[in-house]
Formats: sequence, C-alpha cells, structure tokens
Amino acid sequence: MSLKKICCIGAGYVGGPTMSVIAEKCPHIEVEVVDISEARIAQWNDEDLNNLPIYEPGLKEIVENTRNKNLFFSTDVARAIEESDIIFISVTTPTKQYGVGQGMAADLKYVEICARQIGKYAKSNKIVVEKSTLPVRTAEAIRDILENSDNDYSFEILSNPEFLAEGTAINDLLFPDRVLIGGNSDTESGIAAMNVLKDLYLNWVQDDHVVLSNVWSSELSKLVANAFLAQRVSSINAISELCEVTEANIKEVSKAIGMDSRIGPKFLNASVGFGGSCFQKDILNLVYISNSYGLKEVGDYWQQVITLNDHQKRRFAYKIVSKLYNTVSDKKITLLGWAFKKDTNDTRESASIYVADYLMNEQAKIVVYDPKVTAEQIYADLDYLNTRSEKENRALLEVVNDPIEACQDAHAIAIMTEWDEFKSYDWKSIYDNMFKPAFLFDGRALLDVESLKGIGFETYVIGKG
Ligand code: NAD
Ligand code: UGA
Repeated sequence: MSLKKICCIGAGYVGGPTMSVIAEKCPHIEVEVVDISEARIAQWNDEDLNNLPIYEPGLKEIVENTRNKNLFFSTDVARAIEESDIIFISVTTPTKQYGVGQGMAADLKYVEICARQIGKYAKSNKIVVEKSTLPVRTAEAIRDILENSDNDYSFEILSNPEFLAEGTAINDLLFPDRVLIGGNSDTESGIAAMNVLKDLYLNWVQDDHVVLSNVWSSELSKLVANAFLAQRVSSINAISELCEVTEANIKEVSKAIGMDSRIGPKFLNASVGFGGSCFQKDILNLVYISNSYGLKEVGDYWQQVITLNDHQKRRFAYKIVSKLYNTVSDKKITLLGWAFKKDTNDTRESASIYVADYLMNEQAKIVVYDPKVTAEQIYADLDYLNTRSEKENRALLEVVNDPIEACQDAHAIAIMTEWDEFKSYDWKSIYDNMFKPAFLFDGRALLDVESLKGIGFETYVIGKG
C-alpha cells in the first residue's frame, strides 16, 4: 500500500506531538489530527505558536515547520476517517468513575465511540491503530464493533502503544528506545498491515528498534512498562522514608545502587510521589485485570505501588504540619511547582494537588507559583477533588505569577516540581523576606541543602530528613 494520508483521533498530549513528529519525518504523507474539542483544535491552529494547547520543549518548532503543509488540525472527524489509510486512536482512557470497575478499570467509552465512527464513516479498507493505552484484549472489542458496522470494508487492528514521557516527548518520539507494533501475524492482511505501519516508522527509526508482537502482548506490554517505571519510583520513595530515620541519604543510596548495571541509574529520584495521567490509572487497570482473572496475589502486588505513592504524598504534607509546630492554620505556605514534573504544563494527578488539599484541610493559606501552569488549571484541579466548595478553594489558595512575591512573608516553602529555575533563585533574599524560622521542604531533593542551611533555612529534604 502506498500511504498517502493518516489521521489521528485525539489531539492531546500524545496525538499532537506524535503526529507532529510523523509529519516532520514524512513530508510525503498528509497527517490530520482531529478532535471533538473545538477549543483544543483552535489552539493547535492558533497563529501564535505560544498558544499551542501543550507545552513541550521542541514542539513549537516542529509545528511551525509542518502545520498547513502536511500537518492539519480539524474537528471534521468523519472526513478525516474517510480520507485516511491509517487511523490512529489516541483518545483518553481514564479510570472509570461509575459502575462495574469504578475507580479501577479503564473507561473505554471514548475508544468505543471512535470505533463506531470509523465503522460509520469508512469508505474503503482501513488500518486502525490503538495508540491509546488500553487493557489487554481491547482490540477484540474494536474488531467486533467494526465487523458489526454496516459496511463491507475490512479493518486490520494494530496495537502501537506510545512510550513518550511528557517534558521529553519530542526527543522520545525522534529517538524511541523501541516502537512496538502488535498485530495478527496469522493472516496475510495482518502481516501486511504491520509492515505498512513499520514502514511509516522506518522513515526515521532504525529497523532494529521496531519490535513486532501479537496484539495482546503489545497491549499488555504498555501497561507493564508503566507499572515497572512507577514501581521503581515507589521503591525508591519507600527507601526515602527509611533513609530519613537512619541518617542514610537517599541520593547516595540511589547513586550506589544505580551503578549496578543490572539496576541502572534511571527512575531512582526520590520525590513527593509520582503523578501524571498514566502511572496510577494504568496500574489500577493492571490490578483490575489481574483480579478479574482471579489472580489476587498479582493484583495485590501491583496495588502496593499505589498505596506507597499515596502514603508518600500524605507523609510529605504531614511533615510540613509537624515541623510547623503542628499547626499551619492561617500560615502562608508557598508551593513552588504545580505540574507533575518539570517541562510540562500537565497537572494531572500531580502530587501538588494532594499536598495542597491536605494543607488546606488544616486551614493553611496556600500560595502557588508554577512557570507553566495557569491559575485556572490549578483551581480546576482542586475543584475536581470536590473536598470543599469552589469559593473555599479560592479563599484558601492564591496563584501568583512571580516566585519572589509567592515566597514573600511565607512561613514555609515547599518544592513540589523539579523546575530548573528553582535552582537559580536568590535564596538569600527569599530567606530575608520570610517569617522566621523560615522552613524549606524540598520534595524533590533538588536544591543545595547545605548552602540553604548556611543562609539560615530550616530544611527538610525528602530522603534526607
Ligand atoms: P488527552 O486528554 O491529552 O487527549 C485526548 C483527546 O481526545 C482530547 O483532546 C479529547 O477531546 C479527545 N477525544 C476524546 N474522545 C474523542 C472522540 N470521540 N473523537 C475525537 N476526539 C476525542 O490524553 P493523552 O494524554 O493524549 O492520552 C491519550 C492516550 O494516550 C491515553 O490512553 C493515555 O493513557 C495514552 N498515553 C498518554 C501519554 C502521556 O504522556 N500523556 C503517554 C503515553 C500514552
Ligand atoms: C510515563 C512514562 O515514563 C512513559 O514512558 C509513558 O509513555 C507515559 O508515562 C504514559 O504512558 O503516560 P510521564 O508520566 O509523562 O511518562 O513522566 P515520567 O517521567 O515517567 O514521570 C512520571 C512521574 O514520576 C512524575 O511525577 C515524575 O516526577 C515521577 N518520577 C519519575 C519520580 O518521582 N522519580 C523518578 O526518578 C522518575
């Protein structure tokens, strides 16, 4: 098949950057990204590239090179399906908030809607690619829906999970560790479809980095990759608590164990807890799947990764309360960072949301500064928790655009996100303008704690005490 056009349903953190990179690397292919959200598509089409809906280093430049040449954004899902040879599904798969599997299973309603739309609007044979992270055996449901749709075309369903991490998405897409393609190698059309997708990636990815597997292995591998990564963070965070009571230092422990080539140095940074839209939801999904096959011990094993993460967020908040003489009522506490990690404006499941919520329960006055997150988003995150009214959230938490103003007259500052700019602040002048004793809680072990102590700060560093 000579590939002329592809489309992607879902213009989010995955669909937008992934399709931008495909467009950049495949100038001979037309790439269209479609979404039901008119507002999101308008942002992708905004003339001012600073208004793209996603902040991701390097993304703006790629969109500038490709947009309206071979990369297009629109809300016309039906036309894009009709015109495309390959359709990527990259819509949200959040944790289900109702019915069977509530709070655990992935909610597949958005994926199902996409499958029904493809069945409805296709006017030729199509390759349908699962780009969203999906429970193992979802391709079966998609196939059922497509086979039962009222048309005579054939559909090949492939699983091609995305492994990019936010903040490094462009680099991850340009130089992926591997591209995984799951398909049906028992049929000629299945093999042909896998090769069409493989050839697309070969425009910039080395042959030996493309891994072919059966669909179920591919679907499951994505959940397992995230579970393993999150497990490393929970493992090091568990040890961070042990370090704090034994005077071991988590940074030294991480370095020592990471030098073992069997363990490796990545994902060993202790933190206030992992966030992001996927780790928690994907592990919950893995637990749900394991339990639904009756594998209780397997489910319990992975559940513990979440339990530890919840504990880490809570204990950080309680540490602040206990150091501030067990009362934070009416005290100004500044949170530096709201994004779930640096170099992204994404706040989904960020530890900051939960730490702020715990402290607001104690009637602390929270001030937040984040270089990339808007006040609107911060309030939306808190309102979504539904702990208190919108009015109370706005009365207890203020968002400011200037970090120095954020820290002025604070009783305590907490580093929540590892933004590089925090390292270059004039900490002496920040200290001079704080209430004394001036407390600094470093939830990322980011700052040079000895020099902060030299200035006069009372410090607490995750994994060091
Ligand atoms: P997102 O919320 O940023 O984007 C999803 C988009 O899909 C939204 O813009 C929404 O409006 C759109 N959408 C939903 N239903 C639609 C429909 N029927 N038709 C058209 N558009 C529709 O989500 P995301 O972060 O891009 O994640 C998408 C998938 O990729 C999830 O399954 C996620 O687990 C997976 N994933 C995410 C990341 C990440 O870093 N965010 C990385 C790898 C995999
Ligand atoms: C993660 C995976 O790394 C991606 O491979 C995957 O594609 C993606 O989830 C997904 O499926 O959504 P992401 O969540 O964007 O990517 O970011 P990570 O770098 O994995 O960080 C996740 C969380 O763990 C962040 O809150 C981060 O601060 C935290 N973390 C990470 C630590 O606390 N310590 C570490 O050593 C590493």
